[in-house]
Amino acid sequence: MLQNLGVAITGSGSAIPAACLDNQALSCIVETSDEWITSRTGIRQRRLAAATESLAAIATQAATGAIAMAGITPADLDMILLATSTADDLFGSACQIQAALGATKAVAFDLTAACSGFVFGLVTAAQYIRTGVYQNVLLIGADILSRWVDWEDRSTCVLFGDGAGAVILQASASDRLLGFELKSDGTQNKCLNLAYNAQPKELLDGINVSKGSYQPITMNGKDVYRFAVQRVPEVIDKALFRANLSVDQVDWLLLHQANQRILDAVAERLHVPSHKVISNLARYGNTSAASIPLALDEAVRQGQIQPDHIIAASGFGAGLTWGAAIFRWGR
Ligand code: ACO
Repeated sequence: MLQNLGVAITGSGSAIPAACLDNQALSCIVETSDEWITSRTGIRQRRLAAATESLAAIATQAATGAIAMAGITPADLDMILLATSTADDLFGSACQIQAALGATKAVAFDLTAACSGFVFGLVTAAQYIRTGVYQNVLLIGADILSRWVDWEDRSTCVLFGDGAGAVILQASASDRLLGFELKSDGTQNKCLNLAYNAQPKELLDGINVSKGSYQPITMNGKDVYRFAVQRVPEVIDKALFRANLSVDQVDWLLLHQANQRILDAVAERLHVPSHKVISNLARYGNTSAASIPLALDEAVRQGQIQPDHIIAASGFGAGLTWGAAIFRWGR
């Protein structure tokens, strides 16, 4: 029997916390203004998860929407990949989602690549399908960065928001993942961190262990901006080359929603007109691994993205990591 070794992305879903913090309200917390944030970033408001909300819960909600759109059931899933940097449990949160969905057959694990997590996860999931190992994979990008933001640091706290997005990848006779390229550069790791701060604790004479905690996000905004504007067009060009496509054949440019200035600069360098650039960061800010699937799901449900449209998606962020995937929407 011939196996279907192509990859199709057949469903999407998303979920956001209820609480909304706009720039005006944020200016009561730190010295900033709606004018500064909007003009520098394009962000107008962000959703924030309450202490009672878990990453697993919003990820499960996003997953449920994607599973329904794909027309499958949780029992059909072979694998669940959770792209996140903010798991509820440092051992991983994917298994909690597996249990909540009742996806009894699925192997589940977390994948961490910051804001590139969704694109890295898409390519990872595709490999299992292309080798014929699995047929139905749930990929979730979800983050609650508000847990790790320093709410006294106006240079970072204005940027981030919380959310979750998900897609279903299925084995298909035609391969609709047309090209991809992934990159890492650990020499620039210090640009963007959510780092563990070790505190030595002496257990016995000469035996020390580390009892520390994770520190809030630190970022060199200018370096991250320069990195994104230079590397993202390059990696999209490379993925398009692998797909044997030219940029004018792309229907939608779907970038990690970090900053409107980055979106505009990347689109300009690639000569993509603004009406093809998907942007929802005004409403959600930077939701890290969630930003691409959240924007994808909205564009699909609003009827912008149609079956067979070609999407150039690119994630970039801490690590540093960056990558692009070119795919045709739908089965
Ligand atoms: N409100 C008001 N003033 C502010 C704020 C704020 N929220 N934040 C900084 N400022 C002030 C600074 O103190 C500084 O004042 P000074 O000139 O008196 O010293 C001034 O504004 C300019 O600060 P810069 O940091 O130079 O501002 P810049 O123009 O570089 O913009 C920004 C900052 C928006 C963060 C920009 O660097 C950027 O977009 N970088 C990319 C960041 C990004 O997208 N990060 C996420 C990457 S994805 C991931 O993996 C998480």
